[in-house]
Amino acid sequence: MALTDSQKKLVQQSFVKVAVIADKAAELFYGRLFEVAPNVKPLFANTNMKEQGSKLMQMIGTAVGGLDRLEDIVPHVQALGKRHVAYGVKKEDYTPVGEALLWTLEQGLGADFTPDVKAAWAEVYGVLANTAIEAAYKQKMTPDEMKTKVGQEKKVDLTSYDLIGANLGGVSLNGTQLTGANLTGANLTNVDFSGATLINADLSGANLTNANLSHAKLVGTKLIGANLTAAQLPSAEMPECDLSGATLTAADLTGCNMKDTKMMGALLICSNLSGAKLDQANMTGAILTGANLTRASLVNANLRGANLTVANMEGANLEGAKLTGVIGYDQRPA
Ligand code: HEM
Repeated sequence: MALTDSQKKLVQQSFVKVAVIADKAAELFYGRLFEVAPNVKPLFANTNMKEQGSKLMQMIGTAVGGLDRLEDIVPHVQALGKRHVAYGVKKEDYTPVGEALLWTLEQGLGADFTPDVKAAWAEVYGVLANTAIEAAYKQKMTPDEMKTKVGQEKKVDLTSYDLIGANLGGVSLNGTQLTGANLTGANLTNVDFSGATLINADLSGANLTNANLSHAKLVGTKLIGANLTAAQLPSAEMPECDLSGATLTAADLTGCNMKDTKMMGALLICSNLSGAKLDQANMTGAILTGANLTRASLVNANLRGANLTVANMEGANLEGAKLTGVIGYDQRPA
């Protein structure tokens, strides 16, 4: 964060002068806000503006007082941002609020509102608004921004980010939190997702060729039509995923948990599914030619019309599995 020590001081010193006229400042602030952004006025239709004004000034006071320990105020600002979604506030509304705040400070401070003081307040408001917005709204990031974020932070939290169509080939996202993220159509070739959490994320149509997803958590993840050719998924947790129409040719799925997963029409040619848990999986019409299913558990799995030509089924448990129309598999006991 770009806030310097001298900027923190300027903000703290100037706020003292505004705090003594807090009621007046709040009144000026809302007056100005409704002038520059009349569209936000209905959000305060049932609000006691006097109380609201003092809450706002108090919150700004807390933030200003906490500038030296930003890490302490961040969770409060994040929670504030999330509460504001429920008030009907949109992320673009933070711009006129920032403008009205700077204008109010100018009225209150007069000649003391120097360009340096203005710049310092703009920076502080920017940090607060960005913290609130980032916590409250789904974020879109360009691949370059994403790569910078990944490079700067050891364990990146990208929960609920929109990265649709992003080109992230070769990036390391191991251990990353990507719950609910939207990565549809993204280029994720060779990406290292080992140990990452992708619960309920959407990776439909993404290219995950050679990606490393070992030990990743993909519960309920959508991978419809995704390309996972030669991807590494040993011991991945992926129950209830949707892999319909996905390509998993030569993928390593050893010991993978794929219970209740949908793989209708998926291509699993020469994939390694040894020891995988595929109970209740829906694999109708899947192509498993040359696949290794040794010791795989397929209890109650649906394999109707699947192609198992030259697949290795040694020690596989097919109890209750639906095998009508299966191609290339002799169901008679040896
Ligand atoms: C960093 C910027 C902001 C700060 C520090 C802030 C501060 C506050 C505080 C302390 C409250 C009292 C309720 C609570 O704590 O949840 C509040 C409520 C509210 N704020 Fe903000 N706010 C900010 C941005 C905005 C923006 C951008 C808007 C959009 C116009 C907005 C509209 C509202 C509304 C509608 C309420 C609810 C009023 C009610 O209770 O009826 N705020 N704000």
